[in-house]
Amino acid sequence: MAQPRFLMLLLLGVAATLVVRPLLTDEVGAKARSGIVVGAAVDWGLLQQPGPYQSLFLEHYSSLTPENEMKMDALAPAPDRLDFGRADDLVEWAAAHHIKVHGHTLVWHRQLPAWLEQRRWTRPELAAFLRRYVTTVVRHFRGRVGSWDVINEPLAADGSLRRNVWLRVLGRGYIADALRWAHAADPSARLYINEFDVERNGPKRRAMYRLLRGLKRQGVPLDGIGLQAHLTTQWHPGGRELRWVMGRYAALGLRVDVSELDVAIGPQAGELTRQARIYRSVAAACRQEPACQRFATWGFTDSSTWLGSGRRPLPFDAAGQPKPAWQAVRAGLGR
Ligand code: G3I
Repeated sequence: MAQPRFLMLLLLGVAATLVVRPLLTDEVGAKARSGIVVGAAVDWGLLQQPGPYQSLFLEHYSSLTPENEMKMDALAPAPDRLDFGRADDLVEWAAAHHIKVHGHTLVWHRQLPAWLEQRRWTRPELAAFLRRYVTTVVRHFRGRVGSWDVINEPLAADGSLRRNVWLRVLGRGYIADALRWAHAADPSARLYINEFDVERNGPKRRAMYRLLRGLKRQGVPLDGIGLQAHLTTQWHPGGRELRWVMGRYAALGLRVDVSELDVAIGPQAGELTRQARIYRSVAAACRQEPACQRFATWGFTDSSTWLGSGRRPLPFDAAGQPKPAWQAVRAGLGR
């Protein structure tokens, strides 16, 4: 009696090794190779309610970027008051669900509080405000927000520094100053400059390279660049171009993350396939570039996107079903 049972166990063991091991090693191997965090910008109003939006996010993502809750108009409703209420709720929720938070964004030209835009600033006044703001916000989230878009969209289309209120009143030093203040407030946070249209070669890409190189040479605490990658099926980098561009930034000793990817499509036949190809090539470029550690899209379902659901730019459709783009992301990342 003992023999057949032993044989059966042996056969089961062999079968398990043949079937399960390759699956496991494949998964573990892919993870070890890529080590990339997959994230998305989230609509906090939707995410906090149990429902399909929340479940879809929790099933597939391990990092979030608040789409609006950490922008200056949200955090600084009045000159003498910061309001961390909604952002704190979000950060607490993320911690409870083991989701990393990427802070977005400290210094930008949009979504500024009306009171700030209306005021006539002197240079010392605005510098004092910005220093206090960056310091207080980063310190408030210390240990809970691991990385920040300290500077968002500092360049104009021609590669010059964007003539925002910060440049006009403070001069070009505002970029290095904000990074230094953020670093002093939380030395362990990873600090980024985040920008669009710098994932293709051209004047803006070259200007970004010079800006980053200058900051690194000055010893400014800067850890990475976020390539926003707001793409369309008409306007997108080729795979080789993107790998080259990423490599250039990486050679400066920076992380090069994909921070806000979406790929807007038109109504024509074949667009979902073209979109999937672009998603795959961006994911593959991120996987191949060791400096790319975070692959994040700006939203995740077509039901909630800044572009309007008609452009269908995200990896899940409006009903939460995976599109070819999602399979393409998995394939590109090797998962
Ligand atoms: O909060 C107000 C609300 O009080 C008001 O009633 C309502 C009326 O329109 O507007 C609400 O604010 C809107 C806000 O989103 C929150 O929903 C703003 O009008 C709207 O302009 C704002 O849009 C955001 C946009 O940034 C503003 O620049 C988008 O949600 C957000 O997805 C988008 O995100 C940016 C990144 O931060 C930087 N990179 C590009 C990316 C896409 O544009």
